[in-house]
Amino acid sequence: MAIIGAAGRMGLFADRWLSAQANFEVVDRIYSKDDLPKVLAASQAHVALDLTRASLGARHAKLILEAGLRPVIGTSGVDSMEDEALDQLARERGLGGLIVPNFSLGVCLQQKLSLLAAQAMGVVEIVEEHHLRKVDKPSATALDTAQRIHEVLPAGSAPVPIHSIRTLGVHSNQTVICTGPGEVLRIVHETYDLEAFGPGMCLAIQHVMGQIGMSRGLQHCL
Ligand SMILES: NC(=O)c1ccc[n+]([C@@H]2O[C@H](COP(=O)([O-])OP(=O)(O)OC[C@H]3O[C@@H](n4cnc5c(N)ncnc54)[C@H](OP(=O)(O)O)[C@@H]3O)[C@@H](O)[C@H]2O)c1
Repeated sequence: MAIIGAAGRMGLFADRWLSAQANFEVVDRIYSKDDLPKVLAASQAHVALDLTRASLGARHAKLILEAGLRPVIGTSGVDSMEDEALDQLARERGLGGLIVPNFSLGVCLQQKLSLLAAQAMGVVEIVEEHHLRKVDKPSATALDTAQRIHEVLPAGSAPVPIHSIRTLGVHSNQTVICTGPGEVLRIVHETYDLEAFGPGMCLAIQHVMGQIGMSRGLQHCL
């Protein structure tokens, strides 16, 4: 593994988590001061995990593929408009890659269950709560969940409403609420530690080793 953004909160976590796994080795730690194309060109890593800043994810995915490594992009905010060009480049190079807006297995499963519930019950809302330091509102995960649910609702359905709360005492929670006549189904996910991202990170890395082409979402690994 090469970790890009190795000094950041997520980069440090990924280094600690992956270094503790028997089947992974972190061979390169890449920082903002480094010449990324040069370090990647010399790297012995098979996979590069990008955990940097929104707006850099797509550019870094391209550089990683051009250097012959497989990208796993955990950095937020990669526009889905970039997916096709990245997929094409990955196929040309014969490499796998994955964009993972959220590494949490729980969020991935919550989204899968929500699609089932929304198709059956139809009326859906999302409530997301985060700590006061979170700057984006609604969260990217809530927007992604709402979009995925909307895609399985009948054509012409209104967008799924998202209620965002920024408050003390929570890290990151998301509840999908489905209502039917006389009943309410709540699908609740709560994150309280960065470790929530560890197992999903490992799955994503294993996934790109066995694929050709670039895809999006941890759903591809489950
Ligand atoms: N996919 C997920 O499940 C998930 C979960 C949580 C967070 N995230 C996302 O992961 C990213 C990192 O989050 P974080 O909390 O770790 O942020 P952070 O603490 O601010 O760390 C970002 C790191 O990226 C480095 N960096 C910036 N530009 C770089 C470049 N061109 N090359 C190499 N490194 C560069 C920064 O270095 P300098 O300080 O030197 O600029 C910093 O060390 C964010 O986009 C965040 O939204 C994703």
